[in-house]
Amino acid sequence: MPPALKALLSQFVGFGVAFVLARAGLLDGLWPLVGAQAVTAAAAAAVLRSARWWLPIHLAFLPLVVMAQRLGVPPGWYLAAFTLLVLVYWSSFHTQVPLYLSNRATAMALATLLPQGPARVLDIGAGTGALLRPLAQARPDCAFTGIELAPATWLLGRVLGRKLDNLAWRRGDLFAHDWKHYDLVYAFLSPVPMAAVWRKARAELRPGSLLVSNSFALPEREPDALIEVGDRRGTLLYVYRIDGRSDDRSG
Ligand SMILES: C[S@@+](CC[C@H](N)C(=O)[O-])C[C@H]1O[C@@H](n2cnc3c(N)ncnc32)[C@H](O)[C@@H]1O
Repeated sequence: MPPALKALLSQFVGFGVAFVLARAGLLDGLWPLVGAQAVTAAAAAAVLRSARWWLPIHLAFLPLVVMAQRLGVPPGWYLAAFTLLVLVYWSSFHTQVPLYLSNRATAMALATLLPQGPARVLDIGAGTGALLRPLAQARPDCAFTGIELAPATWLLGRVLGRKLDNLAWRRGDLFAHDWKHYDLVYAFLSPVPMAAVWRKARAELRPGSLLVSNSFALPEREPDALIEVGDRRGTLLYVYRIDGRSDDRSG
């Protein structure tokens, strides 16, 4: 079951149990009702094996809704906040890839993987261009492309990178873009799409090209190199070389 559906179901279970308890006269007053809904929703999420971080979200959700309701914030603010979140996170509920940005140390570590001469680099899920901008400045002889799905991050990346002639900025799905022209493809996504990323990389990238994944290893293959960036978050870059072996090109 998709995580978003599990979350919805857990909330409904919480409401259902709180309703039944209230009808049976076992709960009196708003906060016991809210507390029962929150605890039951979290328990349902645990039973449905939602990721651990969903549990505090379920515990806090209804209490925060009730408290916000009491603040009397005009509804337009909720709509504005919702619209902004949709534009930034877009289809994260489906792709299960949230937004977090690479730091400069990571960009500089990636730069060490680039050849001496010109190269073409693609950031799949480029966010706001936090990785590509410093790279494009450091290596004017290389061509950098970022592809990003979420409208707000894409727009911000486009504005921030507008003065860099060697940075092309595209809006779209990373899986619909053709990767065959790139010497290095960089991914900072999540564990969820990595198997599909590897299938596409080995089907499209030329032998000798590199796939570099920030933090998330491929499930099916040992990395050819592991780079410790040495930053505070302990970033690891998993480096995979497309070597044209039959297991790279098949399937
Ligand atoms: C963790 S962020 C990484 C941003 C950037 N690569 C960086 O390192 O700073 C992942 C980005 O991938 C984008 N994304 C997720 N799925 C995508 C898809 N199928 N096509 C294009 N972009 C996608 C998200 O919107 C998000 O901005």
